[in-house]
Amino acid sequence: MTTDKDFYGLLAEFEDPTSLYRAAERVRDAGYKKWDCHTPFPVHGLDDAMGMRFTRLPWVILTMGVTGLLLGMLMQWWMNGVDYTYDISGKPVWSLPANIPVIFEVTVLFSAFTAFFAMWISNGLPRWYHPLFRKERFARATDDGFFLAIEARDSNFALDRTGDFLKSIGALSVEEVREADEPVAMPRSLKGKLWIASCLALIPAGMVYASYGKTTTQPRVHLIKDMDKQPRFHAQGYAPTLFEDGRMTRSQIPGTVAQDQGFALASFETGKSKGDYLQQLPSELNVDEAFLNRGEERFAIYCAVCHGKDGKGAGPVHKRAKMLAGQGLANWVTPTDLTSGLIAGQADGMVFETITQGRRTMPSYAAQIPTKDRWAIIAYIRALQEEASAGGPSAQDLAAMSPVERGKMLFTSKTCNACHTLTGMRLVGPPLNGLFGREEEMEGGEKITVDESYFKESLLDPNAKVVKTFPPAMTSFAGQITDEEIQDLIAFLKTQK
Ligand code: HEC
Ligand code: HEC
Repeated sequence: MTTDKDFYGLLAEFEDPTSLYRAAERVRDAGYKKWDCHTPFPVHGLDDAMGMRFTRLPWVILTMGVTGLLLGMLMQWWMNGVDYTYDISGKPVWSLPANIPVIFEVTVLFSAFTAFFAMWISNGLPRWYHPLFRKERFARATDDGFFLAIEARDSNFALDRTGDFLKSIGALSVEEVREADEPVAMPRSLKGKLWIASCLALIPAGMVYASYGKTTTQPRVHLIKDMDKQPRFHAQGYAPTLFEDGRMTRSQIPGTVAQDQGFALASFETGKSKGDYLQQLPSELNVDEAFLNRGEERFAIYCAVCHGKDGKGAGPVHKRAKMLAGQGLANWVTPTDLTSGLIAGQADGMVFETITQGRRTMPSYAAQIPTKDRWAIIAYIRALQEEASAGGPSAQDLAAMSPVERGKMLFTSKTCNACHTLTGMRLVGPPLNGLFGREEEMEGGEKITVDESYFKESLLDPNAKVVKTFPPAMTSFAGQITDEEIQDLIAFLKTQK
């Protein structure tokens, strides 16, 4: 070892690959550690002659790959199974196969980055210039020169002794190599380019930061327009170039049939017969155990997330949405209790229409659920209703109850409680305690005092008068509720101050 910091080491040239090979064996046996050979082409067996051990890089990569695998698994498990559980068609929140792609990606990411950066670090990169390049002779290392360089950092190194040793093992020439006098920094041209590239790289980040948490009325930046915007004629528009009379909307061509004319869809497809809802399932269906089981299974997949497994309306989506709504983060309408008297009293065709077309805030499921399965679901809902009503009061029991007691039951069984509270708290609709005699402003600006006829109208034609600041989202109970039931509800609500 030398104390001269600028001194890099000794560079020796050899005649041919064979003498380099022999020399390498000698240097190895002499106990040098920090040295290297430079040849224009790979010399077979040279690494053995140099006593080079196999690189440890694969083990480092394996370790980091396994770390990535475990972290990926942990991340997926935490996000999907613990922190943000979401019920998707009743599937388990955490299962290995569904998460393989992400875990695989994270494993590859960790391995690739480790391979790349560990290789750099172990090679002492990045480095702009190597002192060996300062020797003109060394340029031949890519052509016909065979070199061996021993570094001064080696603990065995001593200038005279090592120089003599190299000559003794057949070196044609031995040269001293020094580091550059001035520090070898990053080339200036590269510095400029890097500087420009980093400034450019900041632009997207800056744009994201500037728009973070903001809303805009501008359309999004639309670089590739495809066919989004193209000249077109509007349905009721004017097109002097196209038709003689300039009108876009054409009348029907004589002798043709429009798609929605003439082909009356069977009641199996519409749930209606001659404009009226089917009261029962269509007769062509064979309602047996297999059909009901199919209905149960489809119900669990498509409906239970919102309406709950028992149909009472407390599915996992509902629970989470209600929690978010409580924090002011979402709007949510409680899914209807499907076992309630309201739905039990509906014709099968009407429930079919609800699934097919959606109703108010519930979306249509026609695209996901084939027609026959929709009927199977209805058959299963009927079974749920029967089960739920099994414990309910009989007609005699009801007659024996007071109107207030019956009204209290109706408030839940007719699903009023899904949208109204009796505690003064606002849900979908206004709170119903202290209702009668209340002065209220309607959407049109009209002022009314709540009385029994307004109450009745609210139930039978809810959108006739809509309370200001509330959505016109109330269910119409026309045909779903009897006059006696309305009286019972009034009696009950009058007790709620
Ligand atoms: C995304 C949640 C969600 C899913 C899934 C869902 N529903 Fe609903 N459903 C609702 C909500 C919310 C309402 C109450 C709508 C309202 O009053 O605005 C509702 C209302 C209903 C009603 C009462 C309609 C009426 O006449 O008042 C029926 C019947 C119904 N759903 C059946 C089903 C069936 C059957 C399925 C499965 C095919 C299903 N729902 C799936 C959210 C859902
Ligand atoms: C799907 C949700 C929903 C259900 C179910 C529902 N309502 Fe409503 N209701 C509303 C909304 C929203 C309003 C406010 C808009 C309006 O006036 O139509 C409202 C308004 C009312 C009003 C007028 C309140 C006022 O302050 O003027 C009354 C009375 C009423 N509902 C009674 C009932 C009764 C009784 C039931 C059960 C038989 C019921 N509602 C079921 C959503 C609902």
